[in-house]
Amino acid sequence: MKPRTRAAHPPRIELRPDNRPLVPPVYQSVKFELETLADTEGVWRQEEPGYSYSRGGNPSTHALELEIADMQGTETAVVVGSGMAAVASALVGLLASGDHVIVFAECYVPTRNFLRTVLARYGVTHTLLSIDDHQGLEKALASQPTKLVWLESPTNPMLKIADLAFITGAARRHGALTVLDNTFAGLHSHLDCGVDVYVHSLTKYAGGHGDVMGGAIAGPASLIDSVRRDVNMLGPVLDPHAAFLISRGMKTYYVRRAAAVATATTLAQQLATHPTVRRVHYPGLVDHPGHARGLKQMADSGTVLTIDLVGGPEGVRAFTDALQLFAVTASLGSTESLLVPPQLMGNMSLSSEMLKASGFTPTSIRLSIGLEDPEDLYADLCQALEHAAALAS
Ligand SMILES: Cc1ncc(COP(=O)(O)O)c(C=O)c1O
Repeated sequence: MKPRTRAAHPPRIELRPDNRPLVPPVYQSVKFELETLADTEGVWRQEEPGYSYSRGGNPSTHALELEIADMQGTETAVVVGSGMAAVASALVGLLASGDHVIVFAECYVPTRNFLRTVLARYGVTHTLLSIDDHQGLEKALASQPTKLVWLESPTNPMLKIADLAFITGAARRHGALTVLDNTFAGLHSHLDCGVDVYVHSLTKYAGGHGDVMGGAIAGPASLIDSVRRDVNMLGPVLDPHAAFLISRGMKTYYVRRAAAVATATTLAQQLATHPTVRRVHYPGLVDHPGHARGLKQMADSGTVLTIDLVGGPEGVRAFTDALQLFAVTASLGSTESLLVPPQLMGNMSLSSEMLKASGFTPTSIRLSIGLEDPEDLYADLCQALEHAAALAS
């Protein structure tokens, strides 16, 4: 063969079947071939197991799907290129034109925006309620046929704990599906809590290192198969290398999560007694209104806490600018601690009524706790709080 042909067909190392790498390889291949046309036809027609084209399936992404379904306690899962791709794919895959959705004011802002803008164009309507408004939920479910109820718990950024038993029970009685964006609570949380479908941003705790994006939709095959079919057409695939990075992150998921939860709990307790902090919102604190419910529903209290500062917006600015260890940026579940001040939170787009119901204030600051030493984090928070207090006095 000539060099050009050899370059296009480089040598392959075929391992003997009993000689396996401990870390599975990244199947960074778009196409897969089989020995015969008959076998290829079988795979293409999905009559035989195998892979042909990575948009429809790839061993690296498939392995991650199995892992996520197992951890979340569901029959199956499909992974996609970001958390928002998971949100959009779940909504597109489960809804049809003319369907009605109930969503909560405390939900991730782009999710609400997707319903309000994109899905509205396709005739999907929605009702916006506060997650605490049980009466409103009953009323909305009774007043018109509803296809699904979309929720998050703990909510972002005020960390309210939704009453999952009530919401899933009410939805089921009215023939509506429940979809829980379980990103904040984590893949190990809310097992058997009655929701039909789970959605995750794998960008957060699963990847865990802030260097890869991904999303997942998990649930029974009867629902996820239609989402998978639509994903194959829409094409928001997770790249095999991204799947590999997320799978690698998953190996340390539990230890990272436990360490960050322990630090978040310690910091929440310390900040709750700090004179320049008006209030700490963290479900792990015994005086949090959702504490008991959280203990019942969740595997742990999470790694995100929100503090309301004493003083006004200038204090928020001084506090934020003085912090050394907290990066001012979106996301959570990473190795480093992060902060989102109220100026950057899309909740400000809510009506004043919904904003009040969500509990959000102009000095509410969301902290996502990472893997740093808790003493260093507390010292950094204290010096920044002093800066903010100096401005207020
Ligand atoms: C609750 C929730 N859902 C979905 C997403 C979207 O995830 P991604 O950024 O991976 O698209 C986020 C991102 O912050 C989130 O917080």
